Amino acid sequence: MMHSYFSEFYKKSKAERTKALLDAGVISKEDLLFLSKNPHLNDQLADHMIENQLTQYALPLGVALNFLVDDKNYIVPMVTEEPSVIAAASSAAKLIAKANGFKTHLTQRKMIGQVALKNVPDVSFALRELNLHKDAILKKANDAHPSIVKRGGGADELEFRSILETDHSPHFLVVHIHVHVLEAMGANIVNTMMEAVSFYLETLTKGTALMSILSNYATECLATATCQIPVDLLDRGSYKGEEVRDLIIEASQFAYVDPYRATTHNKGIMNGVDAVVLATGNDWRAIEAGAHAYAAKSGQYRSLSHWVKAGNGDLKGSLTLPLPVGYVGGSIGIHPTAQFSQRLLSVKNAKELESVIVSVGLAQNFAALRALVTEGIQKGHMGLHAKSLAISAGASGSDIELVATELKKSTHMNLETASKILSSIYP
Ligand code: MEV
Repeated sequence: MMHSYFSEFYKKSKAERTKALLDAGVISKEDLLFLSKNPHLNDQLADHMIENQLTQYALPLGVALNFLVDDKNYIVPMVTEEPSVIAAASSAAKLIAKANGFKTHLTQRKMIGQVALKNVPDVSFALRELNLHKDAILKKANDAHPSIVKRGGGADELEFRSILETDHSPHFLVVHIHVHVLEAMGANIVNTMMEAVSFYLETLTKGTALMSILSNYATECLATATCQIPVDLLDRGSYKGEEVRDLIIEASQFAYVDPYRATTHNKGIMNGVDAVVLATGNDWRAIEAGAHAYAAKSGQYRSLSHWVKAGNGDLKGSLTLPLPVGYVGGSIGIHPTAQFSQRLLSVKNAKELESVIVSVGLAQNFAALRALVTEGIQKGHMGLHAKSLAISAGASGSDIELVATELKKSTHMNLETASKILSSIYP
């Protein structure tokens, strides 16, 4: 029933869009009021968030529609400066919803902390000592952050890695502690724990701690989304569904074997992932760094997603990446727009948020590959880019639409043409 509120959503004015969200029961009257006010971050709060604050840097927040994830419908807030990202995500999600939507699988939410020890005089002795005192090390870590333990989380696993000396680096004995971070992203929890155990580790190993810090390579907090699309949903212009499926599979293979392509392929995935990470007040640099490290886990940088042909001929897609996003903590609790995003999404916890984000990444990737192997990316992209060009040329108000419409008809869609069109309106 929600569909009727959202039909031709992109054609509605901003006021009509927010009204549709209100009528559909997605947002409250208070949220409607919130959306009408700008800026959302008051200056005092902004001044507390960072140092040397001068002003605020605004980015648009929009919504992607049609997401069906683990049998639940979502309207997804996305913050991005790039035209066509939200349109592409919505259109891919609409198609995939017809094919039962996305299914997700998540590992437990554990973060890894590292203490790097150098100058360890006897590595075998040190490893014996560490193994012998595992429980004491974990206890020290947990004692440093009792509140996470009280809530059912905390450190529960140790790993020791001996990284051999090279021509460019000394030997490192690295102690990893795995920590259940529950609803938080966990950086502060883990960093506190690692600093708390570092002196004890020095005593046990007779080495020197170089540093104690969380690893953003969150291999113990992975999210996977899959989808399976029948070929009859893949027909596109003159392309038959089977052909589109096979071309998408080849595009996926190309990104698997070629790092140049894999980088762009993964950038497209991160267009979606980052936009939701940012909208929900999370640390997008952490997610970016972890995702790209994961893409290189085989020793070669590869695509994060894979598209294959299912036994029955459907197109099957999957995406796995580390997704240590938080539901509480950091700027999430204090940034009013991040709070709004949580209300809009109506996710109940960090795991559910992970499921939505990884699905958006897969949707974004599907949309990009489908366009790339059929009509090309510029047709849709530049269509939406026309408005930005019109604004860059100096158009304002109703002239933006006017210039953009003329621009789309032109052979050379660029700033020069936009300026010429604008000058022809105001000779
Ligand atoms: C543009 O922001 C993203 C794409 O380049 C992704 C891709 O090539 O897969 C379209």
